[in-house]
Amino acid sequence: MRNITIAIDGHSSTGKSTVAKQLADYIGYLYVDTGAMYRAVTLFALREGCVSEEKVDEKRLVSLLSDISLYFEKNTDGKAEIFLNGENVEKDIRTLEVSEYVSPVATISEVRRKLVEQQRAMRKGQGIVMDGRDIGTVVFPNAELKVFMTATAEVRAQRRYEELQERGDSITYEEVLENVTERDRIDSTREDSPLKQAKDALVIDNSEMNLEDQFHILLQLAKDRMAGRI
Ligand code: DC
Repeated sequence: MRNITIAIDGHSSTGKSTVAKQLADYIGYLYVDTGAMYRAVTLFALREGCVSEEKVDEKRLVSLLSDISLYFEKNTDGKAEIFLNGENVEKDIRTLEVSEYVSPVATISEVRRKLVEQQRAMRKGQGIVMDGRDIGTVVFPNAELKVFMTATAEVRAQRRYEELQERGDSITYEEVLENVTERDRIDSTREDSPLKQAKDALVIDNSEMNLEDQFHILLQLAKDRMAGRI
């Protein structure tokens, strides 16, 4: 079995992180959630006053980028959590406020350059499952397996709505749907590394699939690549 790179891209709230992590754990690969990295930079921007009147102050954020240090560390359950300048921010990056500003922050080329460089350095020759928006197109264009996950906006909004409700956030389904569709729009139309399917990616529409089905499809694809069958 060879160590391969598995790139999982797709729209927001498709549940790709959950299945990507499950796959990585099963095959003993490193798992990296790159969305968490863009979210942590966004949290930093909010905390450092780089957002005012609902606009991201790009210049100020770019001038502060060298003050940002990000790394992942496993918690006692073995789940990798993200640290921003030494602080565990895994929970703070999942709020609706961060979700609202993360797509504009992710359009900034300097931010992308910094994070992509860090993402490439994480591979270090071992097997890796990385999920995001540009993994198969920009970060690892030579990945042995590329998957593009999608689902209808309504299904994704419903999943995200239930997640936020469980956390106790007071928000309506309509607000979540608006956030999901607005993020799709910004992510797919930005100039630098827009969200798009790599030519050689396999598409999985999971609107009507449960987690188990998705996991088994991904596992089979991964096994074939690892064995060099495809
Ligand atoms: O996967 P997520 O919803 O946590 O990602 C949050 C945002 O980060 C998403 O709206 C777009 C951006 N992102 C990106 O531009 N490139 C990546 N590789 C990962 C995420």
